[in-house]
Amino acid sequence: AYAAPAPVNGIGFDSVPANLYLSPGDDAVTVPAGYTARVLVAWGDSLTQAPHWNPGSAMTETVQLHAFGAHVDGMHLFPFPPMGSSGSPGVANIRGLLVTNHEYVDPPLVNNITPASSYATTPITLDMVRAQQAAHGISVVEVWKKNGMWEVQRTSAFNRRITGNSLCKLSGPAAGHDLMKTAADPGGMNVLGTLNNCSNGHTPWGTYLTCEENWNGYFSNETGDVAGANDPEQKRRILNGQARYGIGKGGFGYRWHEMDARFRADLNPNESHRFGWVVEIDPWDPKSTPVKRTALGRFKHENASCVVDPDNTVVIYMGDDERNEYLYKFVCANKYNPRNRAANRDLLDSGTLFVARFNADGGGKWLPLVWNQNGLTPANGFADQAEVLIKARQAADRAGATMMDRPEWIAAHPASREVYMTLTNNNRRGSNPPSGNSIDGSTPAGSARPPVDAANPRLDNRYGHIIRWRENMGKADALDFEWDIFVECGDKLDPQPHHRGNINGDDYGAPDGLWFDQDGRLWIQTDQAGDATGDWANIGGNVMLCANPSTGETRRFLTAPKYCEVTGVTSSPDGKALFVGIQHPGEDWETHFTQNSTWPDSGQNGPTTAGGSPSKPRSAVVVITKDDGGVIGT
Ligand code: FEO
Ligand code: CA
Ligand code: CA
Ligand code: CA
Repeated sequence: AYAAPAPVNGIGFDSVPANLYLSPGDDAVTVPAGYTARVLVAWGDSLTQAPHWNPGSAMTETVQLHAFGAHVDGMHLFPFPPMGSSGSPGVANIRGLLVTNHEYVDPPLVNNITPASSYATTPITLDMVRAQQAAHGISVVEVWKKNGMWEVQRTSAFNRRITGNSLCKLSGPAAGHDLMKTAADPGGMNVLGTLNNCSNGHTPWGTYLTCEENWNGYFSNETGDVAGANDPEQKRRILNGQARYGIGKGGFGYRWHEMDARFRADLNPNESHRFGWVVEIDPWDPKSTPVKRTALGRFKHENASCVVDPDNTVVIYMGDDERNEYLYKFVCANKYNPRNRAANRDLLDSGTLFVARFNADGGGKWLPLVWNQNGLTPANGFADQAEVLIKARQAADRAGATMMDRPEWIAAHPASREVYMTLTNNNRRGSNPPSGNSIDGSTPAGSARPPVDAANPRLDNRYGHIIRWRENMGKADALDFEWDIFVECGDKLDPQPHHRGNINGDDYGAPDGLWFDQDGRLWIQTDQAGDATGDWANIGGNVMLCANPSTGETRRFLTAPKYCEVTGVTSSPDGKALFVGIQHPGEDWETHFTQNSTWPDSGQNGPTTAGGSPSKPRSAVVVITKDDGGVIGT
């Protein structure tokens, strides 16, 4: 039987108690005794020498373009010296580029509308939309440790914002395809912006991978029709494709389509094909253009976990976070070149996309999504490889992949390369008779209810689980793997046995963020309701935990402010500074946000740029250090 390696130096801290928000002071980040968590940068903090945003006012596009974005999510720290330079490696642990995703916005917070619930009926302007779009995307922020404290280097030439309106290039097999062409971009090669950047990845050649997740929510098909599609079959395929990716009337309520017609999916149906990709960014070149790598497929990308074999084979593992969607693997056609950074520049443009099938016997197969194989033919709606990639979900349906309980993050063990994936929850499994997602997209995503299976064994999987797999012969590009379930999450006090889980240690649910530190500790972040009521009355608010992959032992490391999720984690190379994202504190659309949380400007985790005058909750990154200067987790 397989035995996972234990973390080097073990887990050395005592669990923090669950946060049940019993007192106002519990609206904070809490870490174990001997550790300190301080706010490093929050939404609206200036990344230049221009003034910080006043969170009591409406955000503007002008301010947001030089300020840290909203709703921080996946992140990675790229240590100095700049990749490819001959600078001294001695600064690696005290200076780096912190690159962060900004997944989405709560429009009432951006536009300063109260109560929040009135946003839907407030007259909207293009300026309001532009401010929201500018709060999306990516921040590149130079951070350094000065006089023992990490801070933003506001004079850095590396600091940069990439937003929902920044120029991005398309590359790979779908670039320039007819389905990518729009009136504004007749060549189908240039897209404005990257949206809903949820989780992330990074490559050994020093680039950042950002993943477009719930991009469908910005689009609206207002009429249920497709302008200019006179052929009924063509129209049917376009509308089915929109349904398969969750595009409908109104979207998620952002209302951008009212002011910005590129988000009208009925008028500009191809614009939505230009979102849903993994985007590669070179943080070391502030003038570089982000590149949407179409070879990796179009879906609701959670993260992009890059694994490189000893022989320099490169693969990227990717989840599609929706109920009953799939796990994917991209295998690069060419090998990583550790001696020539430029040689890796377009490595992600050529290779094979696979989707996973988990068999009941503990084995699994990677099924290729290659044109003219496995029914991916013109007769079935796939004219060429570009169309296979643009319609990756439909291609995966056709290939016979396993529908999973919402694939979120994926992380590989630094030594064994065993791969772990969070499956956050699923309340749409178990039908009689079973029905799958329809192959042509006529069944909207999320409406299908596959039966439980070995890899997704629970009906009403409200607490989620973590699955793991080992590639055949340990080769990342293998076509077969072995898998098992690392843990079923749950609440040991739940009256229903199937909700109790089998956690060896502190209970949690809705696992989402997942990351291995260099010693092989597995860090788990959660994304649940975040108010310690109902299903979460015993578990408390959202957390970050640390697990031993060998024994499953799990300890709660961090508790978080009210109504936030904990998402995004990276560290300095020496493991002595841990950067963690706190996203959407206070988020509850039914009530005024500021009644739910005043973090971080409450000052609970150190001073902020707002100077202790909380006017609205803000997503932020905290930096965690050990008071004795040691490695986090030891
Ligand atoms: Fe944006 Fe699946 O989390
Ligand atoms: Ca997530
Ligand atoms: Ca989530
Ligand atoms: Ca989120």
